Amino acid sequence: MIVAGSHSQALAAALADVTDHDLAAVEYEQFPDGERMASLDDAPDHAVVVAATPTDAAHVELLQLQDAAREAGASQVTTVIPYMGYARQDRAFETGEPVSARAVARAISTGTDRVLTVDPHEPAVCDYFTVPAEAVPAAGRLADPLPDTLVDPLFLSPDEGAIGLARSVAEAYGRGETDYFEKERHSGTEVEITPSDASVADRDVVLVDDIVATGSTMSESVAVLNDRGAQSVYVTCVHPLLARNAHLKLARAGVETVFGTDTIERPVSEVSVAPAIADTL
Ligand code: R5P
Repeated sequence: MIVAGSHSQALAAALADVTDHDLAAVEYEQFPDGERMASLDDAPDHAVVVAATPTDAAHVELLQLQDAAREAGASQVTTVIPYMGYARQDRAFETGEPVSARAVARAISTGTDRVLTVDPHEPAVCDYFTVPAEAVPAAGRLADPLPDTLVDPLFLSPDEGAIGLARSVAEAYGRGETDYFEKERHSGTEVEITPSDASVADRDVVLVDDIVATGSTMSESVAVLNDRGAQSVYVTCVHPLLARNAHLKLARAGVETVFGTDTIERPVSEVSVAPAIADTL
């Protein structure tokens, strides 16, 4: 039985459809003091909790759903974290900082037998769980919404870390080159992009990253590409967090279109990762 977190209701329904599992009735409540409670009406034997954690409240909700499933009699709990919040805090960058990804992974591990998470920022984050954990690759599906008519396409990641995702999209698209820019981050919202030597004039460029958060990385990249005469620039990512004014920044930079997957449910979530999760489940 699929048990949906409040941030993953559409994805959970799609996964139930693809896998032919039942979809549990879940209630999400908030008390006057701000505390929340997520509860189940059904009693699953094997509960598959599907819950993205883009907020702190979503982390608590995920722990509650795991616990509710056990309370309702589940003998097996599988936890699917389509987007794992705090995964980018995967090491202590300075003395005294927590390894937040490890802290949340340990907490999540206490309520489950197995974890799946979609294209985490670093696959090694799976090692922080104390139960078997796997990364589900879904980036190849980002090729689906692209028009068949892209001109001399270049699949570009804004930093070297995401070149594997760009290659996956290029391979799924069936033609095109791949390349990456260099990125230096100066603050949470300020990045400096150093372009590569790849010629982009009159070409269609598809920018690929794991996450679009504030949109700083992608909007700087779009601006550079437009300055260099790209015909059009598409922005795609696995996790369309799109915090604050990210979409506005991308639009002002001159992006052709923005789309991502339903690991985070946003208006741009054109691609479902349900089939990819079903394959690994
Ligand atoms: C970091 O290296 C990630 O891969 C993304 O590039 C980053 O999270 C994007 O953040 P923002 O949209 O805030 O620039």
